[in-house]
Amino acid sequence: MKQYDYLLVGSGLFAGVFAYFAGKQGKKCLVLEKRDHLGGNIYCEETEGIHVHKYGAHIFHTSSWEVWDFVNSLAEFNRYTNSPVANYKGEMYNMPFNMNTFSRMWGISTPEEAKKIIQEQRKVIKGEPKNLEEQAISLVGTHIYQKLVKGYTEKQWGRECKDLPAFIIKRLPVRYTYDNNYFNDLYQGIPMGGYNVIVDKLFAGCEVRLGTDYLENKEEYDALAEKVVYTGTIDSYFGYRFGRLQYRSLRFETEVLDTDNFQGNAVINYTDRETPYTRIIEHKHFEFGTQEKTVITKEYPAEWTEGMEPYYPVNDEKNQELYKRYEALAAEEKNVIFGGRLAEYKYYDMDKVIESAFACVKKEFHGINIAADHR
Ligand code: FDA
Repeated sequence: MKQYDYLLVGSGLFAGVFAYFAGKQGKKCLVLEKRDHLGGNIYCEETEGIHVHKYGAHIFHTSSWEVWDFVNSLAEFNRYTNSPVANYKGEMYNMPFNMNTFSRMWGISTPEEAKKIIQEQRKVIKGEPKNLEEQAISLVGTHIYQKLVKGYTEKQWGRECKDLPAFIIKRLPVRYTYDNNYFNDLYQGIPMGGYNVIVDKLFAGCEVRLGTDYLENKEEYDALAEKVVYTGTIDSYFGYRFGRLQYRSLRFETEVLDTDNFQGNAVINYTDRETPYTRIIEHKHFEFGTQEKTVITKEYPAEWTEGMEPYYPVNDEKNQELYKRYEALAAEEKNVIFGGRLAEYKYYDMDKVIESAFACVKKEFHGINIAADHR
């Protein structure tokens, strides 16, 4: 009989949801986290009374009632609605592309007028769009592409739009209504008190060791628990034996400013190519803060190199093939559950990682009723 039922490697949302339900089942968990705090990428750092999203802006949105009900049992959510604004050389445009954007761009007022202009501009694309540039022009025409898509996207991916695949931009919503809400999901908001309120509740029953890298003493830690829930990078678990998976990273520059309102919105995108950052986050607006000062973060896209935070998996064939080889090894591993964005080499929104943890919990604890067991 080992000391713990589960050894949780990492303390992001995946491990947190697992820990929460394991605790409800009377299981004993030890959490190892290599950072000096719990929460993974949803962790908030408090500065000037403002909850700063340390690893990038996190807005909770979902269409799953099961997920929304669960997170609301852990924290009260405010009415924040993500409505980013784009700054193109001082011209301000609402996002996502909607009637407010079109009206500002062309001085028109009806959907019919907007559609007519876009239809006209799309004619330059003949046949199926072959790359992101053609796809974007076919969706929003040449003007919106030039001012709001091109520079931002090229900064983000470090490549010319002509060299990027068309499917990336399919996800950008285009609306012929005056609706600035970025997401289409049914539910949306920010937990009052910041995400740490949720994190603290998820790990409440666990023993925690911070600043501890599991891979540095893997065998010793494995001996402590019956099963491992691993949420770190999958290639590092297997000692990079087939090679390294690639990521895109980000660099954040955060500063405290002696003003109560710097930009009037939580998220402003800089869509010209010359401004080196892609967006500025003003954290207090996520919670309608009234503090005397403000905290802003400039977000710079960055090429990922070893030692940097791996943020986004590179969604190309080479990396997917490599991941599949590691996934096959993981399937053979006894008593180890691989989960979350790093172990599955997948971009997950928060609601999706919670859904995936629910599925894992249901499999692990047969007969568990998520809805009944979180109240
Ligand atoms: P997560 O990365 O949070 O946790 C893994 C943990 O494991 C980390 O804390 C890491 O330090 C630890 N770890 C790794 N290896 C270890 C080892 N060897 N030993 C010990 N510990 C180890 N989603 C959304 O719904 N709305 C949004 O607005 C955003 N915004 C957003 C912005 C940015 C910039 C990114 C990159 C992502 C988002 N997301 C998002 C996605 C969201 O961050 C994501 O769904 C969850 O954080 C994933 O939680 P995980 O538990 O999978 O990983």
